[in-house]
Amino acid sequence: MDLTIRTASTEDFPEISAVDSASFGEHFSDEELSDALTLIDPARFLVAVDGERIVGVTGDYPFTMTVPGGTLDVPGVTWVSVDPTYRRRGILRELMHRQLRNFADAGVAAAILTASEGGIYGRFGYGAASATRKTVIDRHRATLSAPTDTGMVERVTGARARELLPDIHRRWRAQTPGALNRVEPWWDYLMLDREAHRGGMSALFHLVHADGYISYRVKTDWNDGHPKHLCWIADYVTVTSEAHAALWQVLLGLDLFGSIESYRMPDDDPLPHLLTDARQVRTTAIADGLWVRPIDVASMLAARSYAVDVEAVIEVRDDLFGDGRYLLRGGPEGATSERTERAPDISLGVSALGSVYLGGVRLETLGRAGKAAADDPAQLTRLDRALLADRTPVHGTGF
Ligand SMILES: CC(C)(COP(=O)(O)OP(=O)(O)OC[C@H]1O[C@@H](n2cnc3c(N)ncnc32)[C@H](O)[C@@H]1OP(=O)(O)O)[C@@H](O)C(=O)NCCC(=O)NCCS
Repeated sequence: MDLTIRTASTEDFPEISAVDSASFGEHFSDEELSDALTLIDPARFLVAVDGERIVGVTGDYPFTMTVPGGTLDVPGVTWVSVDPTYRRRGILRELMHRQLRNFADAGVAAAILTASEGGIYGRFGYGAASATRKTVIDRHRATLSAPTDTGMVERVTGARARELLPDIHRRWRAQTPGALNRVEPWWDYLMLDREAHRGGMSALFHLVHADGYISYRVKTDWNDGHPKHLCWIADYVTVTSEAHAALWQVLLGLDLFGSIESYRMPDDDPLPHLLTDARQVRTTAIADGLWVRPIDVASMLAARSYAVDVEAVIEVRDDLFGDGRYLLRGGPEGATSERTERAPDISLGVSALGSVYLGGVRLETLGRAGKAAADDPAQLTRLDRALLADRTPVHGTGF
């Protein structure tokens, strides 16, 4: 094998697409590739090449991610794959290390991704920072205890949704840690609503309130005269309690429907508290969601605010970029952080820092797992409290 890693060009994408198709097990059509290219900057992609042949790829989309008290610009790593005939020869490792070094050279504070499998990315310093859960609601059994006014909810066309949704999403994003911005090409791409992306279900339906929206697909099931259609929530954005309650009132009133399912509801969603029987919001699966890889630790720590005042020296172990100690001084109004030689109060690996960064994983839990340590347990408790966020992190856009 004569392996080199180089930056991709637009001309590489048919071959890149073929590697990804074989890796993910689905044939990407020419239409899907040209749609995808509207989001892609080839200069942000790396390919592993054996002679002339592309055998591996990684790339990123630029996102702005909400963090407690602010935002952070992050590359969202994507399109990661290695040709099935070139596996377990270290190609992913080469690609990941090159990409992370490029990020560091460009002054990136942290990178993010979502993982096809849970065992791949911890070794590269990424830590699972949020969860994705599947919820299933039996529509016939889920009843709102105080019916609300649905007059504010409108069913709109895709074209109208394209006009209305971005502003609502922008306001939701501001209040949700982990939430990713959607630039105009992302909105255009998502609203194409191509058949290949519908999972065998209908085109999108959009329910819109001034302060929230739900986009869903339908799988009809007439069930021999006892209809039990599926409502599959594809996008779920509520800014206010009123919008949340009104949208659910419409969904739960969808005659002919048996269940409402979703990967979109965070575990702090208020819906169970609006029902006569909270148990009707069933969690049927839970897995990692967004992964965070700290790169410039001091910048990353200073980019967010902290729930309580904290001053601590954090030692971060990092095989790729070297270990470092960082003095963090933070509180509800913001934070500063700088390298220091002072003795550490808390010590943890770089992936553990990624996990706790958005407030979705407790430092205290990682301490009990042996992934974070402190000579004085009160220091760990203090930083644990400081890292808490007002809301469960949700990234909101698959990439
Ligand atoms: C995942 C994938 C990119 C790995 O590529 P690869 O070139 O075979 O990986 P490498 O040989 O560089 O492996 C590096 C390390 O990761 C481990 N690893 C690789 N794939 C893994 C997997 N799927 N699960 C757990 N560990 C994995 C290797 O065992 C090796 O471990 P080590 O650190 O102990 O040596 C490749 O299997 C693939 O394309 N899979 C299908 C598409 C996919 O899932 N992509 C990821 C999208 S998020």
